[in-house]
Amino acid sequence: MTTIPRRRLNQSITRFWSFAAPVYDQRCLQRLVYQPAQDEMIAALRANGAHRIVDIACGTGILASRIADELLPEEVYGVDMSDGMLAQARGRSSSVAWKKGPAEQLPFADGFLDAVVTTSAFHFFDQPAALREFHRVLAPGGLVAVATISPRQLLPVQLFAAGGWAPVGNPSPAQMRDLFEDAGFTVRDQHRVHRPVWTQAVGDLITIGVKP
Ligand SMILES: C[S@@+](CC[C@H](N)C(=O)[O-])C[C@H]1O[C@@H](n2cnc3c(N)ncnc32)[C@H](O)[C@@H]1O
Repeated sequence: MTTIPRRRLNQSITRFWSFAAPVYDQRCLQRLVYQPAQDEMIAALRANGAHRIVDIACGTGILASRIADELLPEEVYGVDMSDGMLAQARGRSSSVAWKKGPAEQLPFADGFLDAVVTTSAFHFFDQPAALREFHRVLAPGGLVAVATISPRQLLPVQLFAAGGWAPVGNPSPAQMRDLFEDAGFTVRDQHRVHRPVWTQAVGDLITIGVKP
């Protein structure tokens, strides 16, 4: 997508999430939809032992705050484009450095971080550009973990429309691997997010890679 349509899309996404911010933290919505992927991120980061971590598209800051409280790394950052979501995040924790910006243009120097995570937002991104940016800001050996919607199976109409590929924005597991590898990452693990049976319709996938 060219720069101007992308900017307009980002503005619409930002407006929507600023509007939705006040209801986002509802306990039931969080437990059923968002928390399982966040639990997986905590486990992946704990196993990796990263010290400088960023949560991209951090929303109201639930995951970034958990990272700060549960893993006690040296530095935790939360980045989002939406003022409304960031306002909630700032009220949640002062242990996290909250920053405004798009996933495709991060406010960090090359090689500054040793882990980048993102949950429930990758479908909004310019995915190749965001992954290239994650690669840029990570030090060699750094970890990237993306949890995103990835359909378990396509409806016949989608198969027809997309020529057998998953709809744009919701990559298949194979497409996620390709996106990671095209950005320069080695894929270390990929699996469905562990969820209670009654929420498996969410169909989210976690892909974990390393910058060689
Ligand atoms: C469904 S919320 C997910 C929030 C959080 N990651 C979670 O798991 O609860 C999606 C968030 O992505 C943010 N977002 C969407 N596109 C973005 C982009 N290109 N760069 C940064 N943030 C973005 C929105 O502002 C919103 O806060």
